[in-house]
Amino acid sequence: MRILSGIQPTGQFHLGNYLGALKHWLKFQDRDNECFYTIVDLHALTTVHDARTLRQNIRESKIAMLSIGLNPEKSTLFAQSQVHAHTQLGWIFTTLTPLGELERMTQYKEKAKQALKNNGVNAGLLTYPTLMAADILLYNPDYVPVGEDQKQHLELTRNIAEKFNKTYGQIFKIPNPMIYKETARIMSLQDPAKKMSKSLGPQHYIGLFEDESSIRDKIKKAVTDSEKEIKYDPKNKPAISNLLAIYSGVTDKPIKDLEKELEGKSYADLKSSLADAVVAHIAPIQQKYAEFTANFSFVERAFETGAEKARTETEKVMELVSQKIGLE
Ligand code: TYM
Repeated sequence: MRILSGIQPTGQFHLGNYLGALKHWLKFQDRDNECFYTIVDLHALTTVHDARTLRQNIRESKIAMLSIGLNPEKSTLFAQSQVHAHTQLGWIFTTLTPLGELERMTQYKEKAKQALKNNGVNAGLLTYPTLMAADILLYNPDYVPVGEDQKQHLELTRNIAEKFNKTYGQIFKIPNPMIYKETARIMSLQDPAKKMSKSLGPQHYIGLFEDESSIRDKIKKAVTDSEKEIKYDPKNKPAISNLLAIYSGVTDKPIKDLEKELEGKSYADLKSSLADAVVAHIAPIQQKYAEFTANFSFVERAFETGAEKARTETEKVMELVSQKIGLE
């Protein structure tokens, strides 16, 4: 199978990114699929306008991707800006996409609201999903592993593919999102009604490269629910269910087994076991991060080779697209 996914280089990855998406990228890689994983640095430009910050974030994201176990021998790893076909096809897709559909996107509405408070809403925030559709469709993937928050963008991508195929002739395969139920939406540690994200503030998320004491402290201070029972019930016990989802994600134990193990235990016990499990799971990733940081030229080469492969792949598709739409 062909797999494609992407992540924005907007600073340190957190457990939401990792458990909702990145960890599943690894599973596909290790089952002999043809995987393309990209750092979507052009998407990051919709919110980051400082060159030093962006450069640093891209660098750290490249190191992080290798540190979690993505292997450049098995997966094609590249930065979106290294492959120009993404912007080319993205533009073509904007000409096929009704404005209303872009204005309806939840992520756009949220980000636009935020942007209004700062520098105003740039047009890139609106056309974000057409570039994302290009990221995906250029590689004709069967599956796109993402967290729940990207589902709407995937639906739009499918619509764009269908519209293109209908207007110009069949080129694009209709991709399927791959969303894993229990980790589809890792929630904030302080407000389990909101998804974990860095924009909520430092107490709301756990960064993959945070130090142990800070991780333990954040888990200790995580909000819990009323009553005492440790039970997975997202509707009535959202905070405890979220902690169980994270626990299951970092141990690969089914939530049912964890509930049994923790029967009769207190919320404090749950938090302390969870903190141990998180720290144990990410320690080797942090170790690798230090190693790859010291050997950044290896990381750069891996992304250069990946980008070369991605360019070859996309050139064929763009030739066909150009022909179909009348550019040659
Ligand atoms: P981004 O960079 O915000 O997040 C990367 C991945 O992490 C998932 N994720 C979560 N999953 C569960 N719980 C959470 N709290 C959580 N927070 C983030 C996201 O769903 C995503 O899978 N638009 C995309 C990037 C993108 C892309 C693509 C993805 C651009 N082009 C092509 C797939 C294919 C985004 O902003 O993800």
